[in-house]
Amino acid sequence: MEIQQQKLPETTLVQQNQLLVGIDLGTCRTAVMSNRGAQIMTRSVVGYPKDVISERMVGEGPIIGQDAVSKRNFLDLCYPLADGVIREASERDYDAAFELIKHVVSLAKQGAEASSVCGIIGVPARASIMNKELLLDIAKEVMNVALVVSEPFMVAYKLGKLSNCIVIDIGAGTVDICGMKGTVPAADDQVTFLKGGDFIDERLESAIARRYPGVQITESVACSIKEKHAFVGQPDKPVIAKLRMDGKPVEFDVTEDVRAVCESIVPDIVEQLDTLVMKFDPEDQEEALKNIILAGGGSRIKGLSQMIVNQMSDYGEVVVTCVDDPDYIGSAGALKLATEIPTDKWPEIGVMFGAD
Ligand SMILES: Nc1ncnc2c1ncn2[C@@H]1O[C@H](COP(=O)(O)OP(=O)(O)OP(=O)(O)O)[C@@H](O)[C@H]1O
Ligand SMILES: [Mg+2]
Repeated sequence: MEIQQQKLPETTLVQQNQLLVGIDLGTCRTAVMSNRGAQIMTRSVVGYPKDVISERMVGEGPIIGQDAVSKRNFLDLCYPLADGVIREASERDYDAAFELIKHVVSLAKQGAEASSVCGIIGVPARASIMNKELLLDIAKEVMNVALVVSEPFMVAYKLGKLSNCIVIDIGAGTVDICGMKGTVPAADDQVTFLKGGDFIDERLESAIARRYPGVQITESVACSIKEKHAFVGQPDKPVIAKLRMDGKPVEFDVTEDVRAVCESIVPDIVEQLDTLVMKFDPEDQEEALKNIILAGGGSRIKGLSQMIVNQMSDYGEVVVTCVDDPDYIGSAGALKLATEIPTDKWPEIGVMFGAD
């Protein structure tokens, strides 16, 4: 049987070749999804060769992501994001943010050129307008149209829970909490505070160093212990970490430290939830309390959803659910937005450039 090839009108061909990208630009990791099926995660770090000898070993660079971490002896590493927003300390921060975005957009293309690149980028709920504009300036160099939206909104959009729902996104730099009321959240429906994973790592490192004087512990070792064992409430079993003391490996019980540092973020979460719940219409509060969503890498802390429920027992029925895929839900929500909302309507959702 002969297959009839229909000739598509010119404009459709151009649109077919349009690249839509959803980016969750995180302090620790950047996740990207595109309408060409790309689904990529990279560490948010850019490495520049230290000197001419390093350059001979690793090339001119810059080197991005895990590859940069692996070759760190040859590189000056630059983490362009701090506390969820682009660092504004030096020209290099700006350059590194540009390299990171260029890198992920090029991966999102999946090897084929695009007639236009339209991207939606997530930032913490209350990132300043200045920082959003800085990000757009960078995006302008690799995209034709770009929109910056708040991270929890991307999560809510992906889940289709745009009304009477509260999203808690526990990232590395920030915890973002956002009340969804059917539209794009207003500034006072969102709060951000700096008690994400990095805060937990710092506290865990010093707690273990205090409990076991002389033990060799770094923030990165503390982070690995956390990622493997983080919990609140009752532990399933003791948390035993193999660390070095006087150069020799020794096993240490760090159960209490892991519990204490993980629990240390709960009071702020509950306090901010109290405030956000009151901002819902009284008739909607009951429903919002049954629709609390935990997202971000920190949502993997065992027992966290139950502890939030317990601490909010005064409110009646409270239901806290963890998202299935904290790694990609933000970028998936951004891509869904980019696919479903025509670019000329993007200015209604966030700060942008490039729409007609
Ligand atoms: N099992 C786990 N338990 C607790 N924390 C974890 C676990 N797995 C990952 N994390 C932490 O989650 C954080 C990364 O989460 P995420 O990717 O959501 O952050 P991010 O988007 O890069 O940061 P931000 O949104 O603040 O810019 C890191 O601090 C990481 O150590
Ligand atoms: Mg994040």
